[in-house]
Amino acid sequence: MQKLFINIKELLQVRTSPIDKVSGASMADLPKIDNAFLLIKKDSIENFGPMSECPNLENIEIIDAKGKVILPTWVDSHTHIVYAGNRIQEFVDRINGLSYEEIANRGGGILNSAKKLNETFEEEIYEQSKLRLEEVMHQGTGAVEIKSGYGLTIEGELKMLRVIKRLKENYRLPIKATFLGAHAFPIEYKENHSDYIDLIINEMLPKIAAENLADYIDAFLETGYFSVEETVKIMNAGKKYGLIPKIHVNQFTAIEGIKACVEAGALSVDHLEIVTDEDIEVLKNSNTMPVALPSCSYFISIPYTPARKMMQAGLPIALATDFNPGTTPSGNMNFVVATACIKMKMTPEEAINAATINGAYAMGISKTHGSITKGKKANIIITKPLTSYYQIPYEFGNNLIEKVMIDGEFI
Ligand code: NIG
Ligand code: FE
Repeated sequence: MQKLFINIKELLQVRTSPIDKVSGASMADLPKIDNAFLLIKKDSIENFGPMSECPNLENIEIIDAKGKVILPTWVDSHTHIVYAGNRIQEFVDRINGLSYEEIANRGGGILNSAKKLNETFEEEIYEQSKLRLEEVMHQGTGAVEIKSGYGLTIEGELKMLRVIKRLKENYRLPIKATFLGAHAFPIEYKENHSDYIDLIINEMLPKIAAENLADYIDAFLETGYFSVEETVKIMNAGKKYGLIPKIHVNQFTAIEGIKACVEAGALSVDHLEIVTDEDIEVLKNSNTMPVALPSCSYFISIPYTPARKMMQAGLPIALATDFNPGTTPSGNMNFVVATACIKMKMTPEEAINAATINGAYAMGISKTHGSITKGKKANIIITKPLTSYYQIPYEFGNNLIEKVMIDGEFI
């Protein structure tokens, strides 16, 4: 049966002509309709407009949304929600003064999660991951990208990607899988990087491609992790199997990695806590989406992505959570949007654009998701009664969501 929402206080992110992303000054514009209706047919958006134009339809489910805001679900284009256990001890160690880098150098960090993952059965990892996925869906996330990268062995990486595949099969929201074998060098390859890169390229990638387990390829391009040259090799190898790069870069240092990613045709470059003027120049006129991860900056106390400077240069920005056990044990996109406003000084309009349509671009789904547009999927958030949508970032940490709809069905 068709569903008709009536009396919607504010219907946000309405786009009559389809767009795939918004950039620069246009990010300040979040088109909305006050006192609106929204018609859902099966899994898609059939129609919307002001209440004065609301159609009189029979045999239809009518839902009164008086006082409520409706917007597209959040698109979380960067997560690591498939992992085993947690890293609570490192959290306490950081409170007591150790840095992320110091912890990693002691064998903690990514290698700590890799050890846990390799010791845990696939079924158990699936169970843990599905709880996280369900939690973020109730927090309004209606599309999610999930990375491997805590295996760092052939079996471990395949195990993670098979868990992601099962999540794809069992949940209606779009899920994209990213192969992140190049997340860190396992201890046994610390002095022999090229053998690990060979393992990724010659052993892992062909198996992953044969099982069709990944949509994208990623690497941690960073001082002390994967160099520009090593990342280029991995990006090129991935592209041979049709995996477009989405790369972790400029989290701690700027080493001209963004340039290499743009040249390789990366769909997105993610983190960007440290950004130089040269990086901004390179991103201009590229098709690569810069993705900021403010919850990560918050949790491990590192700089925030200079979003204002980047938007002033005409660039787009997407926002994502980075949900992972080490730097961001939270997948709450509402908190991301609030933190972008509070700490990065993005306006609510800019932050919502970044967390919907630009997130959809960063995971390659902006044709079907990320805005209220006829024919797009009916993935929407219905809030509790609000004063205005500004309440979403203003009341950071509060749950203002009443219901979430994915593909036309309430979850
Ligand atoms: O995006 N920066 C690299 N990877 C993850 C964190 C990995 C971890 O500490 O487990 C990130 O922050
Ligand atoms: Fe990440």
